[in-house]
Amino acid sequence: MSTFKAGLEDIVALRSEICFIDGQKRQLVYRGYDISELVGKATFEEVVYLLWNGQLPAAAELERFKEQLAAEAALPEQLVDFLKASPKDAEPMAVLRTAVSALGLFDPDTSVQDREANRRKAARLLAKVPVIVAYNGRLREGKDPVPPKPELGLAANFLYMLHGREPGRMDAEVFDAALILHADHELNASTFTARVVTSTLSDVYSAVTAAIGALKGPLHGGANEQVMRTLLAIGEADRVDEWLEAALERKERIMGFGHRVYKTGDPRADYLRRFSQQLGEKRGETKWYEMSRRLEQLMYEKKGLYPNVDFYSASTYYMLGIPMELFTPIFAFSRVSGWTAHILEQLDDNRLIRPRAEYVGPRDQTFVPVDQR
Ligand code: CMC
Repeated sequence: MSTFKAGLEDIVALRSEICFIDGQKRQLVYRGYDISELVGKATFEEVVYLLWNGQLPAAAELERFKEQLAAEAALPEQLVDFLKASPKDAEPMAVLRTAVSALGLFDPDTSVQDREANRRKAARLLAKVPVIVAYNGRLREGKDPVPPKPELGLAANFLYMLHGREPGRMDAEVFDAALILHADHELNASTFTARVVTSTLSDVYSAVTAAIGALKGPLHGGANEQVMRTLLAIGEADRVDEWLEAALERKERIMGFGHRVYKTGDPRADYLRRFSQQLGEKRGETKWYEMSRRLEQLMYEKKGLYPNVDFYSASTYYMLGIPMELFTPIFAFSRVSGWTAHILEQLDDNRLIRPRAEYVGPRDQTFVPVDQR
């Protein structure tokens, strides 16, 4: 048997044509397009189409795709009732995970296992997940849900449903770019989870539900919310140095820093750093950006660690007026695109994913009857 690697670090578990990462060159590439070719040029919908189909859509294809998403945005009434009935203090990631699982109960295609049906399910999830997140966001604050205006596009429509008013152009563009930056990331923990579930020939809803469960953890997507909690706990820029020193002294992990693959920095953080600054300046509230910059500088000096995608997305989303508890659900909203691209690819050439464990437990035990133990 091959050698054990803790956390499967650097183990190549499968072949994929979707996403390429060069951790030394700080490179992230979707289907052959470096993210610098997409951010600020393509919309999130175009990038999703690219991830699912391997090529960017022509104008008519994009129109059809957007129409399909618009037609799928409405939630089953029973699901809206479930969202209304959920405890207000329930974690939004737990609500989302449960809601996505429940969505499968209402989809006539749930157990139809062909490529077309799976594509339809992927589109339904992409259209409905942002609605679930926005509805839950409003309901937990005691506000009525705002029905979607899908013609705004996924990014602007989400901000519209959350705030009850259409976003300005800059906010919509920044949010759209943030969705692009979170869309896929090779075999991260949640995508691997989705592929493992898919490899058993289970269904798309099961795979995405499981992926949401994996994304929720603070070592993965849950870090963005924790970053904002950290910034709020520090409170002021002149407290960053003493706060960090004490946290490192206590051997705490600083959320939003470090990465399993990127060892010279996360290219996504470069864009999000800029967005955080731009939105802070526009709102006249640069404090969170400045605190983040100081933390970044100190973490490099003290630990040689760089910020990852979750670090500046925190202050970016905060400046977009998004509640902290929705940061990770937003990550899920974007990553539905990558998860489903990987689910489709897994099914195109499926083999059950079933690794081995190195047994290190006791051997040659002899049975002792219960009354003699
Ligand atoms: N704060 C303090 N020390 C850290 C951090 C951190 N954020 N990240 C890594 N280290 C240290 C770690 O203590 C270890 O030191 P030592 O060798 O002295 O014990 C060394 O760096 C290597 O860490 P590791 O845990 O072996 O690295 P890993 O590849 O297993 O973990 C990671 C990667 C992302 C889980 C980790 O860097 C971490 O916990 N970061 C904070 C959580 C976070 O920001 N997660 C988001 C990840 S990126 C986007 C996403 O997936 O959602």
